[in-house]
Amino acid sequence: MLVLTQSAFRELQALFLAASGIQLTESKRAMMEARLRSRVEALGLRDFDAYCAHIRASYNAEERQRAIDLLTTNETYFFREPVHFQVLAEVLAQLPKTQPVRVWSAACSSGEEAFSIGMTILDKAPWLNWEVRASDLSERMLECGRRGVFPLQRLEHMPPTYLKRFALRGTRENEGSFRVADDVRRRVRFIQHNLLEDVPTLGSFDVIFVRNVLIYFDNERKQKILKLILKRLRPAGVLFLGLAESLQGQDLPLVRISNSVYRKRE
Ligand SMILES: C[S@@+](CC[C@H](N)C(=O)[O-])C[C@H]1O[C@@H](n2cnc3c(N)ncnc32)[C@H](O)[C@@H]1O
Repeated sequence: MLVLTQSAFRELQALFLAASGIQLTESKRAMMEARLRSRVEALGLRDFDAYCAHIRASYNAEERQRAIDLLTTNETYFFREPVHFQVLAEVLAQLPKTQPVRVWSAACSSGEEAFSIGMTILDKAPWLNWEVRASDLSERMLECGRRGVFPLQRLEHMPPTYLKRFALRGTRENEGSFRVADDVRRRVRFIQHNLLEDVPTLGSFDVIFVRNVLIYFDNERKQKILKLILKRLRPAGVLFLGLAESLQGQDLPLVRISNSVYRKRE
């Protein structure tokens, strides 16, 4: 069986740090080995060092992205941390009815969060003219989101009324999966974006979700990400972090309105 050498570990660690800003420590070594081994084998390469050389070759940007995709942690599901969707409904009810509403699901993984936001808007604030931008570093995850097709097991946390309304069960070759309804899908746009970069063309948002990702960064990068995110949040806009994440020790123009939910000062 192929074993991850120290030199390959260091090189892949540096590659992932440069791409994502996340330092995979020694404790993540077994994870790295397990996730990349089948890829090294599938390419018929001798060992992990040969895989690093393969990525290094200048024509190989695609393989580099593939390695990054394999090293990201993408756990997510529909209506994760459900209390946030109740808070979202309250926030939506307070927004002016006449202007378009923009929501950003940053680090969206395969899109379940972005679709959960869309379903909540259609159910709780159907009068709104809205759009959701969903972004992630992983192209592989974004592709899943763009397809909008998920295994049935992912429906576990979806409220029953939403199941009926927004989840279309697959038949024949799509047995065992479901597709998110078109009225949700057509308003959610997936784009690749690195949280450590500012993209002014993204515009500004009324609500931003950036949940269960800050925990992977050191303090300095976490601060940088939050500052960039805040640049994209409109005055009085609302920021959702993961329930296990907090802003303790950060000096930011935000006021806490609920668990891990903050409003930007005007
Ligand atoms: C654990 S998932 C969180 C998904 C979703 N927000 C949720 O709470 O269920 C973290 C996601 O962050 C993405 N990610 C990691 N580093 C990133 C970066 N520098 N820029 C953008 N996305 C990143 C990963 O690809 C992964 O899909």
